[in-house]
Amino acid sequence: MAGRIPDSFIHDLLARTDIVELIGSRVELKRAGRELRGLSPFTSEKSPSFFVSPVKQMFFDFSSGKNGNAIGFLMEFDRLSFVEAVEELARRAGVEVPHEGGHQPHVVMDGPLDALAAAQRFFSEQLRKHSEAVAYLKKRGVTGETAKRFGIGFAPESWNALTDFLKETRHAIDAGLLIEKEGGGRPYDRFRNRVMFPIRDGRGRVIGFGGRTLGNDPAKYLNSPETPLFHKGRNLYGLYEARQATTSALPYLIVVEGYMDVVMLSQHGITEAVATLGTATTREHLQLLFKQTSKVVFCFDGDRAGRAAAWRALDQVLPELFEGRECVFMFLPDGHDPDTLVQEIGADAFRARIEQASPLSEFLLGELSRQVNLGSLEGRARLVALCKPYLEKLREGTLRTLMSDQLARLARLERADIEASLAGRTPQAEPAVAKPASTQKVSRLVRRSLEILLHRPDLAEQVGDVHLLEQSEVAGVSLLVETIDYLHSHPDATAATLIQQLGGAKGAYLQKLLMSDTEHPDYGMPLSERVGDEGLVQEFGSLALQLRERGIDQRINYFMNHAQDLSETEIREWKMLVQSRKRIDRDV
Ligand code: UTP
Ligand code: MN
Repeated sequence: MAGRIPDSFIHDLLARTDIVELIGSRVELKRAGRELRGLSPFTSEKSPSFFVSPVKQMFFDFSSGKNGNAIGFLMEFDRLSFVEAVEELARRAGVEVPHEGGHQPHVVMDGPLDALAAAQRFFSEQLRKHSEAVAYLKKRGVTGETAKRFGIGFAPESWNALTDFLKETRHAIDAGLLIEKEGGGRPYDRFRNRVMFPIRDGRGRVIGFGGRTLGNDPAKYLNSPETPLFHKGRNLYGLYEARQATTSALPYLIVVEGYMDVVMLSQHGITEAVATLGTATTREHLQLLFKQTSKVVFCFDGDRAGRAAAWRALDQVLPELFEGRECVFMFLPDGHDPDTLVQEIGADAFRARIEQASPLSEFLLGELSRQVNLGSLEGRARLVALCKPYLEKLREGTLRTLMSDQLARLARLERADIEASLAGRTPQAEPAVAKPASTQKVSRLVRRSLEILLHRPDLAEQVGDVHLLEQSEVAGVSLLVETIDYLHSHPDATAATLIQQLGGAKGAYLQKLLMSDTEHPDYGMPLSERVGDEGLVQEFGSLALQLRERGIDQRINYFMNHAQDLSETEIREWKMLVQSRKRIDRDV
């Protein structure tokens, strides 16, 4: 019989668990101030009164009155006993539940993750044995305590140090630590003579490494290759450490370029820095950041390359700015990176620079204004034209209004004129994978569906769940989804009110469709004369089904490509979709 689970273990386990991630994989959550909010999973409410607090690591359900921590949530939601809930959390964290009087906890063997954890221990140990590596870190100002907090290590100058240390090499090869020779033979170490920075995932598990050469290797930094566990576009160096550094909400997160920048800022008490892994900032990075904070500070070099990088980041961040999210741009003085700057000016002065960083609106309008002559009418008109595509990427809301205001001031126009030149509504929720709504290229499936809806808005009702259509990645589908969404919430809408509501380029496109009123090759009669036609209903049904089918295929594809790191909810969805796909095939 297993003994009691020690309180200290439960305490540690809760500290390792992120309740937002746990609940977020089961319930759709949106940020609402400091909390996240969603529909209660315990009642069938229509407006969200279920809150998750990242700071308190608690959930509060005002609709059912339930609240508690991660264990409580699993007990309620998955209907587990206390011990089962603890075991589930332990399984997620990769540790075994100790029972008093029983065995010591040990790490569960888990293939590549284990190889990575073992490698991290090995590199740390090697650091202690290699004075040249210690001397290098010292020279750069890294203290022993910092090195320990970030798990910094050293890969010795050897082709087989790690290979020899790991008894089993298959998982280490899969994890990108060792390289297989062509035609077989013993694999060899990828990282040699490098200071090693472990990259951790949200739960603190090592999923990859960045290694800085101590010698004059042309690759100053070498990163782990992309593996099923490690995606550069989806992970950030230092995010786990940033979260561990404090139990309160993060006022902001600072995005810097390098490993050493994160490490050195942290050593100076600026523990909120993260680095992209030698790639540009992606939408997925931003989504990850905005789950932890409502303000992102981008830190770039002051030179031209830095400004160009900032511009790329701006493009990615615009669609993610809503519900009080904010983003600012900070440029460094020439010849400095955050690592050298914080050592020179200290943490307080560095933080003061963060406070003075340019808000996104200032950076955007500033850069674009420089390209035109604001003194001339043509120049001001051109500024509006240049801004338009960027403003259109913002969802409607305070920020967009604010920016329209500022633009209006610069262009000496009324805000209403600016608003009128923008494409009215923007989609409510654009999935990260979807291409931005483009009315230039619209697939035949979508065009025809829209055409029919313009004549028979009531048919939107036939499409129950737009979620799968949205996934289909068919050109222009976001416009169709937006249209259907609108018709769902406005059952009395007509083609005219729809066009008016969408406005801008989208409205114009629909208007064109409505007026061209193409004839279907099979029927020959203009659509406007077929409104009562049963054939039309059938045609629409079949179009919707085809789009749904594509959505299912894309989603299944996504699941297959990410099979290694799916949550249980996702695996359930995957299974369900495979079943629906089979059903569709059978019926068709
Ligand atoms: P930098 O070249 O600016 O170096 O690369 P750094 O961070 O200032 O490095 P130190 O201070 O000389 O040690 C910035 C980041 O770009 C990626 C790494 O993530 C690095 O931290 N990088 C750079 C690579 O991936 N490979 C490289 O060869 C160089
Ligand atoms: Mn540097």
